[in-house]
Amino acid sequence: MLNLKTISAGLVAGAAFASAQCTIPTTPLSDDIPSHFRIQVQNASRPEVHNKYMNLFEAGGGDQHLFIGPVGEPTYDFTLVDGVVFNVRKNIRLVIGGEWSEIDHTTKLFSTARPDPDAIFQPTYACNPDTGLLQVELRFVQWEGEPLGGHICVRHSFDGSHEFRYDPPGNTLIDVNRECIKVTLVVLPTLDGGPSTTFSTVTVSSTSSSSSVVPPSSSSTSTLTSTSTSTAPPSTSTSGVLPYTDMTSLGWRYIGCAPEERWTTDGPFRTLSGALLGSDTMTNEACMAFCGANGWAYAGTEWRRECWCGNSYAPTRQPLTTLVSLAKCDYRCSGDSGQFCGGDAWLSLYAKCPTGGPCENAVFT
Ligand SMILES: *[C@@H]1O[C@H](CO)[C@@H](O)[C@H](O)[C@H]1NC(C)=O
Repeated sequence: MLNLKTISAGLVAGAAFASAQCTIPTTPLSDDIPSHFRIQVQNASRPEVHNKYMNLFEAGGGDQHLFIGPVGEPTYDFTLVDGVVFNVRKNIRLVIGGEWSEIDHTTKLFSTARPDPDAIFQPTYACNPDTGLLQVELRFVQWEGEPLGGHICVRHSFDGSHEFRYDPPGNTLIDVNRECIKVTLVVLPTLDGGPSTTFSTVTVSSTSSSSSVVPPSSSSTSTLTSTSTSTAPPSTSTSGVLPYTDMTSLGWRYIGCAPEERWTTDGPFRTLSGALLGSDTMTNEACMAFCGANGWAYAGTEWRRECWCGNSYAPTRQPLTTLVSLAKCDYRCSGDSGQFCGGDAWLSLYAKCPTGGPCENAVFT
């Protein structure tokens, strides 16, 4: 049995915790992880790569190559859709192809918006080799269209970095001067403290409810007419346009930009945790049609492509109603760049209006 003394002695000595065992839940994980995460690399016997993070590195043409530090830009906003890793902010996904090395027969794992074959992963529970705590790994399943198996490895590259590679199943070639180190990829929620609740508790629906979508009135985006321009410069929106979409004609009122778990201390849980719809054609109509069809009282869009539904939210997640706060929810919707769909861990929050009752957006001051 482990006690705290053993644990701290082990940490001080840097010893591996062969005996530290977490309890692996028996429920399998879905191959969708809608919450944002970062990817950590682990290989406890290789300190030069162990516990470093996957970074993105601009490679031209919109592609991003993948490195562990010091090269590249840290990224906290991966999602997993059908086993494929996406970065919505850059509009790219993890693929394999190109640049085979003859000497070790590995090829590049990189990220692009072009239709290269995907790298496919399955989230799997495992115990962290250092701490023994439960973690979620992205087990490599296959290169799309290729035989099952193989693994992801990292190989020394420029400026002290390592680049990501795919090592096909059955490959026995090794470059002795530049070994490709086999690594485990680990999902780290952007919020510290373990797997996010969205791994298991969120109802993910991929069914579209577009049949019930009513087109909003022709001018669906409100125009700023007040004298507030000096206090509220919504950073990326067109000047003069409020960063929310007026949905009152469809029976939903905008109540403000609400914080997600990253900005509060009462997490980890989602501000609206009833249901989730993720889509590359997300609009506020699509979201409100989805939440409305399922009887939810609140609907919120976030991160361009997410739609969250719920019947309540915690007091700590109260939407903000200052003019300045509007700028936090100024991401353009994936399905309509004329609309706004939340922000980075900020939710454009709408409430269903009572039938036959008043339906007015919040007043921002
Ligand atoms: C660490 O990398 C070495 C070299 O690729 C590999 O043999 C070993 O299995 C890896 N360990 C883990 C835990 O992945």
